[in-house]
Amino acid sequence: MKILVVDDNQMNLTIVRHYLEELPGITDIFICRNSKDVKAIVDENAIDILILDIIMPDISGLELLKQFRENEKYDSMPIIMLTALDDTESYRHCFELGAFDYITKPINGMEFKSRLKVAVESKIKSNKLQQLVAVTQKQNEELKEINAKLTEAKFQLVQSEKMAAIGQLAAGLAHEINNPMSYVNSNYEFLRKYFLRLSDFLHYIDNRLRVPIHQHKQEALCEAATEVIAKYDAYQFNLILDELDNILSDSEDGIQRVTKIIKSLRVFTRSARDDEKSSYDLLDLIHQVFLISKNEIKYVAYIEIDVPDDIILYCNGVQLAQVFVNILVNAAQAIKSQNRSDMGKIRVTARHTDNSIVIQFEDDGPGIPKENLSKIYEPFFTTKDIGKGTGLGLSISYDIIVNKHNGSIQVQSEYGHGCIFTIILPVIST
Ligand SMILES: Nc1ncnc2c1ncn2[C@@H]1O[C@H](COP(=O)(O)OP(=O)(O)OP(=O)(O)O)[C@@H](O)[C@H]1O
Ligand SMILES: [Mg+2]
Repeated sequence: MKILVVDDNQMNLTIVRHYLEELPGITDIFICRNSKDVKAIVDENAIDILILDIIMPDISGLELLKQFRENEKYDSMPIIMLTALDDTESYRHCFELGAFDYITKPINGMEFKSRLKVAVESKIKSNKLQQLVAVTQKQNEELKEINAKLTEAKFQLVQSEKMAAIGQLAAGLAHEINNPMSYVNSNYEFLRKYFLRLSDFLHYIDNRLRVPIHQHKQEALCEAATEVIAKYDAYQFNLILDELDNILSDSEDGIQRVTKIIKSLRVFTRSARDDEKSSYDLLDLIHQVFLISKNEIKYVAYIEIDVPDDIILYCNGVQLAQVFVNILVNAAQAIKSQNRSDMGKIRVTARHTDNSIVIQFEDDGPGIPKENLSKIYEPFFTTKDIGKGTGLGLSISYDIIVNKHNGSIQVQSEYGHGCIFTIILPVIST
């Protein structure tokens, strides 16, 4: 503890120093006779306690007290006034200016030491408090930093979950597109073959009929026509024409399927900015979501959609599609995990109430054990094998429905008897 004693009287300084030396806890005693030097000494030596004589030439003790108290940097430095003035008015004035204590001269050793002890203890406590505040402030800063890092990490995870989901769906989509494309491809080969045969035949007709017609030779014309018909039969054009009809309608169907898939993908390519909402036809959205998650579902469950065609949602379509895909894929994966011999069932229903839209996804999979029901929305909670599920799907879905759309998401499930996920969204008039 460092103490500075300021008095213009050498005798007083000697006495004070003597008493201070007897006090425990005081490590450095600084003496000063010139009030003009006080500030510099306090600053240079990080003085803890200041003892000031009131009446001094140049700057008075009261003036110094006032200056220190005006600067909050010295708030925690106790200042003890030392004076021969022994009247209530002086006491009052000192305390009003912020003095910690007031000691009268001539100095009584016992009194001086016990008052100084109080000042030292108070300063120790205030130092501890300051350290505590500094530690808390530092911890607070660190927490803020950790929080910022966590937010960033969460964002990265959400992005990577999205990427993983997109990757999974992309594989399914590739499969869905590959099917129609492969038969359009093989149809094209037939078309090419038939076209060659047809063009060959047309050239033949041209060669064979043009001259007799030109020369009006009836007999030669008849002969040529007979040959043409024989060639027509040999080429089996009646069969080819039937087949061409099939090939064309088949290809048309394939092209339409691909077009539909691409159209449904557009819902995912629109910007997923949080605040971007517009009107979506719920049934349309659900059809599009089924189309892109079809590959995950079609081998394990039948799908039943019971959604009216007049429900319009005001929402962020990309985000809602993400929620629906996750719930559907969860249901399909849960059914698949049962290794059952029959196909499962996933049913989607929706209804419009006065002020909300209720959408339900029901599956007849294994359901969720009671002890897990409260955990499924926690980030990283998954019962799937390592590398299969990140456990983020439902936590992101919860965030999208509850925080971004002011809705609610609930699950009803009895272990062994499937699940029902219910999403309720408020109706927003646009
Ligand atoms: N329809 C369901 N049937 C049974 N269990 C389910 C169903 N839906 C969710 N769950 C349980 O909830 C857990 C958390 O689901 P969530 O979608 O958050 O993560 P995940 O599917 O495991 O992983 P991710 O979605 O990241 O691939 C699942 O691991 C599963 O145990
Ligand atoms: Mg999931």
